[in-house]
Amino acid sequence: MLFESYNLGNITLKNRLVRSATYEKRADVDGFVTDALIDFYTDLAKGGVGLVITGNVLVHISGRTAPNMLCIHNDYYISKLKLLTEAVHKYDCKIFIQLVHGGRQCFPSLLAGQPPLAPSAVYDPSTDITPRQMTHEEILDIIDAFSNASRRAMEAGFDGIQIHGAHGYLVNQFLSPHTNRRQDYWGGDEERRFHFLEEIYEAIRKEVGNAFPLTIKLNGDDYVEKGLTRYDSLKIAMRLQGLGIHAIEVSGGMYESKNKTVRLNILQTEQEAYFRKVSALFKRYLSIPIILVGGIRSKTVAEDILQKGEADLIAMSRPLIREPDLPLKFSEGKDKADCISCNGCMKFFKLDVIRCTQLQ
Ligand SMILES: Cc1cc2nc3c(=O)[nH]c(=O)nc-3n(C[C@H](O)[C@H](O)[C@H](O)COP(=O)(O)O)c2cc1C
Repeated sequence: MLFESYNLGNITLKNRLVRSATYEKRADVDGFVTDALIDFYTDLAKGGVGLVITGNVLVHISGRTAPNMLCIHNDYYISKLKLLTEAVHKYDCKIFIQLVHGGRQCFPSLLAGQPPLAPSAVYDPSTDITPRQMTHEEILDIIDAFSNASRRAMEAGFDGIQIHGAHGYLVNQFLSPHTNRRQDYWGGDEERRFHFLEEIYEAIRKEVGNAFPLTIKLNGDDYVEKGLTRYDSLKIAMRLQGLGIHAIEVSGGMYESKNKTVRLNILQTEQEAYFRKVSALFKRYLSIPIILVGGIRSKTVAEDILQKGEADLIAMSRPLIREPDLPLKFSEGKDKADCISCNGCMKFFKLDVIRCTQLQ
C-alpha cells in the first residue's frame, strides 16, 4: 500500500510516504530561502517521497524558535519561497508548509531579550523561562499572522498547509489545560481553549478556500501533568473534522515532557511507531486522513500500519535526514532505515546545518 497514490483534498500524492516537518537551519539569518535549502529539498524530492512538509516556518517575529529558520511573516519572502516549491515540483513531489508560532518555547536570546508570549505565564522548567501572558489584541494579531502567512504560502506555490498544533508550541499551548490557565474567551474550558485554533482555522480558510489542503500536526498526548490526554486530543480532532480539516498528523510531547517527541534509540521493531495507539484510536472515531509520525523505521512496520488501517499516511523525519532517498530504497527492496535515532541531528544550536552526525 505504501506506494499506492493517495488523494488529499484537491491533490494526489504519488505514494503514502511523507517527510514530516523538520527544521533545516538552512535559511539565511533573515529567514529567506537559500541555495543550500533548495539543494536539500531537491534531494528529498528526488528521493521519492510523495509529500514534503517544510520545517516550521515563522508567521510572526515574536514566535521565533531557532536561528536560520524559514520565515513567511512578510510579502518579501514569497518570491524565494516560490523557488523552493518549483524545485520540489520538478520531481513529482508535493510540498506543504508548516506554519508555527513558538509561544513560550522561544528563547529570549532570539527575541531581542524579550520574554516569550504565551496564553498564560506558566513557568517552563525545561527552559527555565516564564513567558508573558498575551493580551487579547496580541492574540488577534497572531491569528492575522497565520492567515496572512497562508495567503503568502498559496502565492508561493505550496500545495497545502500544516498548522503546527503540536510539540508545545503556541497553538498547542492554547489547547492544553497545562499551559492555558486563562478565564476569558480564550480559555477556561475545552471549548474556549479551542477558540484560538478555531479562529486560526477559519481565518486561513477565508484566504485559501475550502478545497486547498489544510492540515494540522496535533499532540495525541502532552505527556505532562494536567496536559492533554489522548481522549482530550480525540475531542479536539473531532472538532477539527467538523470544521473541515483535511488531515491530522499525530505526534506528542512538549519541551517539558522530555524526549517524548523525538525518542532515542529506536532499534527494535517493537519500539517503532510510538504514537501508533493514538493514531489507531483517531482512525476508529474519525473519517479524515490520519498521518502517523514517530519512530517509524521499517517498511514492514509501515505497511502493517496501513494494512491494519491504523493510519493513512506514514511520516518520517530523522531517517530522511540520513537518507533522503529512503523512499526509493524502500521501493527497491530495502526494509530498514539506517537511522539509529541517536538525536545527533537535534543539536540545533551546535550544528552548522541540521544533518546526520553519524555520517563523515
Ligand atoms: C532535527 C529535527 C528537526 C525537527 N523540526 C521539526 C519541525 O520543524 N516541526 C515539527 O513539527 N517537528 C519537527 N521535528 C519532529 C519530527 O517532525 C518528528 O515528529 C520526530 O522527529 C519523530 O519522527 P522520527 O522518528 O521519524 O524522527 C524535528 C525533528 C528533528 C530530528
